[in-house]
Amino acid sequence: MNNFKNRKVLVVGGASGFGLGCARELLKRGARVAIGDVNQASLRKAAGQLKNARLVTVAMDVTSLSSVRKAVAKCARRLGGLDTLVNSAGILAITPFEEVSEKEWDRILSVDLKGVFLACQAASPLLRKSGRGRIINISSDAGKIGFPFIAPYSAAKAGMIGMSRSIGAELARDGVTVNCICPVGAPDTAMGQWGLAWKMKRSGLSAEEIKAQTGQGNPIQRNCTVEDVTNAILFFISDESGFLTGQALDVDGGSINVRGLPGASKATKR
Ligand SMILES: NC(=O)c1ccc[n+]([C@@H]2O[C@H](COP(=O)([O-])OP(=O)(O)OC[C@H]3O[C@@H](n4cnc5c(N)ncnc54)[C@H](O)[C@@H]3O)[C@@H](O)[C@H]2O)c1
Repeated sequence: MNNFKNRKVLVVGGASGFGLGCARELLKRGARVAIGDVNQASLRKAAGQLKNARLVTVAMDVTSLSSVRKAVAKCARRLGGLDTLVNSAGILAITPFEEVSEKEWDRILSVDLKGVFLACQAASPLLRKSGRGRIINISSDAGKIGFPFIAPYSAAKAGMIGMSRSIGAELARDGVTVNCICPVGAPDTAMGQWGLAWKMKRSGLSAEEIKAQTGQGNPIQRNCTVEDVTNAILFFISDESGFLTGQALDVDGGSINVRGLPGASKATKR
């Protein structure tokens, strides 16, 4: 997968976590990369860490149509076009659904679903023009499985999968693929740390104990890392994935699709 030299990529939510990991790897492999984010302090910090002449930073708020349009136009100007969009911006709230306010519902859906729609829409003409466009949207295992206390987040992440497939159907004939990635919880990002702190407070367990438990929650028996997600993003950007669109790839150590034989786990042990 060494074919990133001519890629012009906008990573939305690229100042932190999976987005930052992906931007770092793409720069290493020769791509021109823009990171867009609402958090300007994180953007400055990321620019300092990545230090690269092929990097552009752009302040943007995905909940605002005008902000997204301006940011995409700026990226295209600075990168000399745009052929790849990675949507990694996201927020999480943990609240029993009976207590979720209308404001909280709107806030989560606005960033996690509307924001992705607006970025796809703004970037679409440029991606079509490139003839080799790629959209990669970061959904979640929560878009496929029900977990407690995250109903608005789950709704946004499941909605993102359906929305990506519909957009993919419209853009396929222009050579643009649209795929989702569905990671399990990754404790090392800002969002992961926030979730970990919530679990520590609620359970009284240490960070290490919780990480050990979540690592045991999948057949491969370790926690998801930024590198695991970055590798999946890079695969969907690569030329080798050109025949794949509408996918929602689980980056989850097998937790969704791989099981022991119920009632016979000892009998099937090698
Ligand atoms: N970490 C996990 O456990 C996990 C698991 C599955 C899916 N995800 C998803 O992966 C994506 C990246 O998450 P992460 O873990 O890297 O989190 P993160 O908090 O490290 O990164 C998210 C970035 O999005 C930016 N952002 C938030 N609101 C924005 C807005 N309105 N406009 C522009 N940027 C905005 C933040 O400033 C931040 O830089 C998210 O969509 C998240 O839902 C995360």
